Amino acid sequence: MSTKTPARLDRVRQLIDEELPHLIGIRHDLHAHPELAYQEVRTSGVVQRELAEAGVDFVPDLAGGTGVLGHLPGSAETSIGLRADIDALPILEETGLGYASKTSGRMHACGHDGHTTILLGTARILARLAQEAPLPRPVTLVFQPAEENGAGGKRMCEDGALDGSRIGPRVESMFGLHGYTESEVGTVGSRVGPMLAAADEVNIVIEGRGGHAAMPHTCADPVICSAAIVQALQTIVSRNTNPLDSAVVTITKMHAGDAFNVIPDRVTLGGTVRSLQESTREELEQRIKEVATGIAAAHDCTAQVEYLRGYPVTRNDPRAYGRFEAAATGSLGGDRVNPIEHPVMGGEDFSFYGEAVPACFFFLGLLTPGETEMPALHNARFNFNDEAIRTGIEVFCSLALDDSDPLS
Ligand code: NI
Repeated sequence: MSTKTPARLDRVRQLIDEELPHLIGIRHDLHAHPELAYQEVRTSGVVQRELAEAGVDFVPDLAGGTGVLGHLPGSAETSIGLRADIDALPILEETGLGYASKTSGRMHACGHDGHTTILLGTARILARLAQEAPLPRPVTLVFQPAEENGAGGKRMCEDGALDGSRIGPRVESMFGLHGYTESEVGTVGSRVGPMLAAADEVNIVIEGRGGHAAMPHTCADPVICSAAIVQALQTIVSRNTNPLDSAVVTITKMHAGDAFNVIPDRVTLGGTVRSLQESTREELEQRIKEVATGIAAAHDCTAQVEYLRGYPVTRNDPRAYGRFEAAATGSLGGDRVNPIEHPVMGGEDFSFYGEAVPACFFFLGLLTPGETEMPALHNARFNFNDEAIRTGIEVFCSLALDDSDPLS
């Protein structure tokens, strides 16, 4: 017999109604005070203040100082982990909101203010529910810094967020969410298997022999060479990658000389490489090196390739996905739970939790009903939709109230 009765979910909705005005206030306060990766001192302070006020035990100062790990007791021997990322981006906000960023060049343009608020709301509501009847399973609340390029999730794992060494028992499964501008508020979506891509960085230095632009035959022109390399790199996806697999090679940076009549000695290229499988990732790295060095040699130049591995693939465990689907359907209704057909080639450091325990990441709709588009994530006009706070909390609470067998 499940303790996750409809009555308990009704109670969750009641408590959300009570808490929502306070939570929207928190979201707007966080939005006005964005902080970059590993500098989230004020944000971490807000998280700690709210947890303390709700009577939730926590450990601060993780992952370089701004990570916070909260714990709610429950009946089972292992806990369910719920995660929020708390950092902002180096973007100049253009929303014109009354609660727009007070720091020039800093902005919550990825909605992590919303994610943080949802997890705080979940903590407050679960703490109140726990006073009425024990939670079926302890809950570990992971507030992590530096999702944006800082691998804060990896550092939280290294600092004992999941192994029970800091607070509460070992985490048996992890769940996380991200605002999604492509689907309506009130809905969620996910899929089994790859959800987001491995995101790597490549930098290439092409050395030639510079000289007078009017006498190219006396030089080894690295500009012509790098143009050929940029073109040829695109054939790695079209010719070397299985058409039924997915990969992206995008060169975004190209720096050459600075005079109209001088062939430079050197050109630098940079870009991003995305993949959904480890074997494909390895092949992309190897082929980029082969193509760049081979084409450079053909142009009497040399190419040095630096391949930097970023976040791994965010892969949803089938059983964790099953729990998500049951929890979301139970709380929102089946028509508001959408399967995500294709993975998204963006990257997420939630992937590090998924490498440690069975995990499921899901998208939370942000689009106002009746509208067909909104400013994208990382856009200077993006704003998290306050209406989505309720949906995020409902699904997180429903997951926490699930009393099925541990996944690990
Ligand atoms: Ni984000």
